[in-house]
Amino acid sequence: MNPVISVNHLHKAYGTTVAVDDISFNVAPGEIFGIVGPNGAGKSTTVESIMGLREPDSGNVSVLGLNPHTQRSAVSQRIGIQLQQAALPDRMKVWEALDLYSSFYTNTIPWEPLLEEWGLGDKRNARFVNLSGGQKQRLFIALALLNDPDVVFLDELTTGLDPQARRSTWDLVADIRDRGKTVVLVTHFMDEAEALCDHVAIIDHGNIIALDTPARLIEQVDDELRVTFEVDGPFSAEILSSLPQVSDISRSGRRWTARGDARNLLSAVVIALEQNAVRVTNLQTERASLEDVFITLTGRQIRA
Ligand SMILES: Nc1ncnc2c1ncn2[C@@H]1O[C@H](COP(=O)(O)OP(=O)(O)OP(=O)(O)O)[C@@H](O)[C@H]1O
Ligand SMILES: [Mg+2]
Repeated sequence: MNPVISVNHLHKAYGTTVAVDDISFNVAPGEIFGIVGPNGAGKSTTVESIMGLREPDSGNVSVLGLNPHTQRSAVSQRIGIQLQQAALPDRMKVWEALDLYSSFYTNTIPWEPLLEEWGLGDKRNARFVNLSGGQKQRLFIALALLNDPDVVFLDELTTGLDPQARRSTWDLVADIRDRGKTVVLVTHFMDEAEALCDHVAIIDHGNIIALDTPARLIEQVDDELRVTFEVDGPFSAEILSSLPQVSDISRSGRRWTARGDARNLLSAVVIALEQNAVRVTNLQTERASLEDVFITLTGRQIRA
């Protein structure tokens, strides 16, 4: 299948600041492609170059087979954009924003159903300034979908939202993909990328330092799973240490930890405990996360 987006050796500097050094990747149709990395890594510069909003110093970008710089208006009709710095005039009403944005496109879908779908049906007459953070985000998503785009760019969509609003926004993003659109999601939240993205490019200092599915990125740094639990009643660690799937069993206070290969540890442990009638409480699993991938690759925390 032809990629929807193809970026080859993109390079962009602002004066002496190299924002994007040498970035190449492809985005497949219908996927959520994540671009993650710390502040200033070059994420927004990369996506804004793809959207035709910034001119690269060198390299090639193609979107839906078009060149976003020489064919900018054709591209803009087929992409949906939510920019990191998005804002609307405080006094603008929700319906006025939708009406205004509709006028930018040759083909639009009716905005009334969009408002309902994104839970803003009763907010059509509300002013922008009076919307909650989550409602503003949903409005920006609705605006980005007005032209029924093939590709949607979301740059730091959930920054500034509380954890609950972030999670409900994740469902909305998955919905966009489920409607057959390709989504490019820029975020510095590793948990967001891990939960949503089919592929993730980790960017640091203007270069891609890793690109794969979240699961494969995590497997590469750490394929160990830890199953921890407490025991109510008698328990002999031998039950688990004798299992081929368990590489180690240890105890710290009341909690036991069994370690082993992430692919088959959990069911082996649970079955052995069950067969030996061990009464277990508070069983949990722990695994490396995308955050750990970043730390392993760079030696620092993402928000350092
Ligand atoms: N218009 C500009 N003029 C000068 N420098 C810029 C401009 N835009 C970005 N930069 C610089 O380029 C680098 C990359 O910025 P960019 O906005 O692409 O990063 P980012 O990964 O999106 O960061 P953030 O997570 O903070 O949004 C930074 O050092 C930034 O200061
Ligand atoms: Mg940015």
